[in-house]
Amino acid sequence: MIYTINNLFINSNDKTKKIPTQVTVNGWVRSNRNSKKVGFLDLNDGSSINNLQVVYDPNLENNNNLTNVTTGSAVTITGNLILTPNAKQPFELKVITATVYNICANDYPIQKKEHTNEFLREHAHLRVRTNTFLSLFRIRDQVSWSIHKFFHDNQFIYLHSPLITANDAEGAGENFIVTTITNDKYEKDFFGKKASLTVSGQLNAEAYAQSLQKVYTFGPTFRAEKSNTTRHAAEFWMVEPEFTFSNLQDNIILAQKVIKTVIRDVLNNCNSELKFLEQKQETKNEQSLIEKLEKIANFKSDFKVITYTKVIELLLNAQKKGKKFEFNEIKWGIDLQSEHERYLCEEITKQPTFVINYPQTIKAFYMKLNPIDSNHPQQKTVAAMDLLVPGIGELIGGSVREDNYEQLLKNKTQFKIEGNDLQWYFDLRKYGYAPSAGFGLGLERFLMFITGINNIRDVIPFPRTPNNLLF
Ligand code: 4AD
Ligand code: MG
Repeated sequence: MIYTINNLFINSNDKTKKIPTQVTVNGWVRSNRNSKKVGFLDLNDGSSINNLQVVYDPNLENNNNLTNVTTGSAVTITGNLILTPNAKQPFELKVITATVYNICANDYPIQKKEHTNEFLREHAHLRVRTNTFLSLFRIRDQVSWSIHKFFHDNQFIYLHSPLITANDAEGAGENFIVTTITNDKYEKDFFGKKASLTVSGQLNAEAYAQSLQKVYTFGPTFRAEKSNTTRHAAEFWMVEPEFTFSNLQDNIILAQKVIKTVIRDVLNNCNSELKFLEQKQETKNEQSLIEKLEKIANFKSDFKVITYTKVIELLLNAQKKGKKFEFNEIKWGIDLQSEHERYLCEEITKQPTFVINYPQTIKAFYMKLNPIDSNHPQQKTVAAMDLLVPGIGELIGGSVREDNYEQLLKNKTQFKIEGNDLQWYFDLRKYGYAPSAGFGLGLERFLMFITGINNIRDVIPFPRTPNNLLF
């Protein structure tokens, strides 16, 4: 019978389980060493970072040439499982028969030594065969399942929003064009108009929330953002819940609930992966990775909530005390830079922090205008919320949606939105629009936070970034 190595390890820790004697395992050789008398293979099958020690007799004719099996080779081994209570590993597999499918060539880049993440990025097709990337992508799977489970358990309906669209939901002009022509005569193009890859499923989600009440999208998102940073990818995954009869407070509560629940699931289900990443962590903090996550998952109180206006005040205070920012022109109305965001949650609040009520001019056209503050009639704000977390900056962006048809039309002009492609979206406000709110959570940023990895290129299988379209 075929066993996963992970199952064998779990069984061996469970006194109530009987350890099977003869087992078959599939996997890839991590290392092979032998003397005249005995040979050892370290075998990994992807089910965990644990390797199975395989023992063979190099002198046996029928050892299927295991003596010459190289690192990286794919094999199936059937053997007897022998307990080794006094050794490093709880058991080893003594070979009865072995099948070698493919001897790995000698120029295999993933040898049994430490490789940097930069080096492995150049070998993204092979890097998952290291424990670091095996851990990262097992955690990515867990996080994705947990997100689906969280929303399903909270009665959200999973909605598939389109990837090809005629709108720029965020209005930032970062769409990738989808075309079948070589000129820009889009009226002759496939859709008879200019089409692009979606930057957000929100607008479509809003339409469905006006009947199903609670929906969420979870899929790839595309942005031709020029910023070539460690936190931006041109293709990334976003989770976007949208729910009606809701306000900013409900939105904040939902966001922190999903963060805490998913982190709890990862702590419960990916302990060995987290432990492995923790001991490899690039930046050593006073607080270990698992401690950090435990603290957030167990955090009984709510995350901090601060208005944008207050943040500006705090940044100005910090400046007065001598703090210099790269972008040092702090005043009401500026778009917060990631250095400001990180300073706020790393140095001032020292915890995940929601910033709310941003200036309308630096946010998207669909955000609900707040009542005008009579003391500052010029300072128009919207019911927006960004969740900022230490080490990353912005993890979540969301808002209440403008539900007033006239106001939305005004925004259309103010934000210079041309054409009529969004008329259906405005019309929702004419047809029984219930107050609606939602947010977008960047999956890769969340993974960076959970795993302590500091480059977005390492938490997505095949990263797409400016001047980089490999694999
Ligand atoms: O703040 P953003 O742009 O919000 C929206 O797209 C809204 N439509 C969401 C909504 O209300 N339904 O993006 C949301 C999140 C960001 O906070 C960030 O985590 C992630 O998406 N994100 C990126 N992640 C990686 N690379 C990029 N280029 C990203 N741009 C945004
Ligand atoms: Mg944002």
